[in-house]
Amino acid sequence: MLLKTVAVIISYLLGNISTSIILSKFWANIDIRNYGSGNAGTTNVYRTLGAKAAVLTLIGDALKGVFAVWIGSKFGGESLALICGIIVIIGHNWPALFGFKGGKGIATTIGVALTINPLVALICILIAVLILIKTKYVSLASMIGISLLPLLLLFDNGSMHFLFGLVLAGMAIYRHRSNIERLLRGTESKIR
Ligand code: G3P
Repeated sequence: MLLKTVAVIISYLLGNISTSIILSKFWANIDIRNYGSGNAGTTNVYRTLGAKAAVLTLIGDALKGVFAVWIGSKFGGESLALICGIIVIIGHNWPALFGFKGGKGIATTIGVALTINPLVALICILIAVLILIKTKYVSLASMIGISLLPLLLLFDNGSMHFLFGLVLAGMAIYRHRSNIERLLRGTESKIR
């Protein structure tokens, strides 16, 4: 029990290591949350600091998802891996170390999903990329891609993974509330 609790705490703390907030401080001495959309994530780093910084943010935030799932599976098998996958995203979205103002969890979800089920994750990513190319809306592409996750996991892994995918999709959509409002109003910014 103690090891499992430690794995969950490590996962939350890993999630707190917000690549965009740390990188924007070192890269340009700014807090990314005061720029662009105000989100601590890859898209806003791209918007504010450019492609190189965005790629580093994507990798950093995805890697912590990979580590959390790995720690969960080592300390407690498959079910703890899924729990740690959820917790690392919670840590990213609501980081205690940064005043509970984090990101929307997409890059971390990519890392988590790729570790849990690479094929399903790659299908979701591919569909999201196609939607992004077509619409130029990262938020829309992210939400549709992640919404497919529970369905595909249900077919490939069964009901426990379906529930896990549902939690991930639910968190992502909840964090994109402002994007949904802007999409409906037609004011969401497109990616260049
Ligand atoms: O990963 C977050 C993305 O889907 C939207 O980001 O900055 O446009 O709100 P942003």
